[in-house]
Amino acid sequence: MTYCPTSPVDIISKYYAKDSDIYYILWIHSEQVKDKAIEIALKHPELKVDVRFLEEAAMLHDIGIFMCNAPGIHCRGEHHYIEHGYLGAEILRGEGLPDHALVCERHTGTGLSRKMIKEQKIPLPDRDMKPESIEEQIICYADKFFSKTNLSKPHSIDKIRKDLARFGQENLDIFDGWHKLFEV
Ligand SMILES: [Fe+2]
Repeated sequence: MTYCPTSPVDIISKYYAKDSDIYYILWIHSEQVKDKAIEIALKHPELKVDVRFLEEAAMLHDIGIFMCNAPGIHCRGEHHYIEHGYLGAEILRGEGLPDHALVCERHTGTGLSRKMIKEQKIPLPDRDMKPESIEEQIICYADKFFSKTNLSKPHSIDKIRKDLARFGQENLDIFDGWHKLFEV
């Protein structure tokens, strides 16, 4: 396991201007995901979560958004938004953080399988991008509660389930499994 040599903020600041709208959105969203992830880790000592890694990776999981095109959240890059996980992973590999990189590329929906990427012709590399480690799973789960378009309050379970159901029952089953494991 590698850790950030300094604070995750130092890495974010290399790619985002500190007084920009996009920095503000990324910062608030990442803090929200981090707080929920840590809450889960502290509630479940039996899961033996690496809390330092969890905290760092939650702050960095969306670092790729600036390379994507999503004007509503001030992202003015060239890429399709669904690529933000994979692009963030490339950035973090370049920063010498291969474990954090996996959190980035495995947090979309409840994770994307190779089969799903191929069948739905999603513009992503041909490999499985499903969360594996407990930290990857917690961050993916926690992320589903927080939108970057509305930072004011978390989504309800009903809303999350409805959104995931549109992409197939499998997504819903994974989310429900996490909900049982992390919240009960
Ligand atoms: Fe996120």
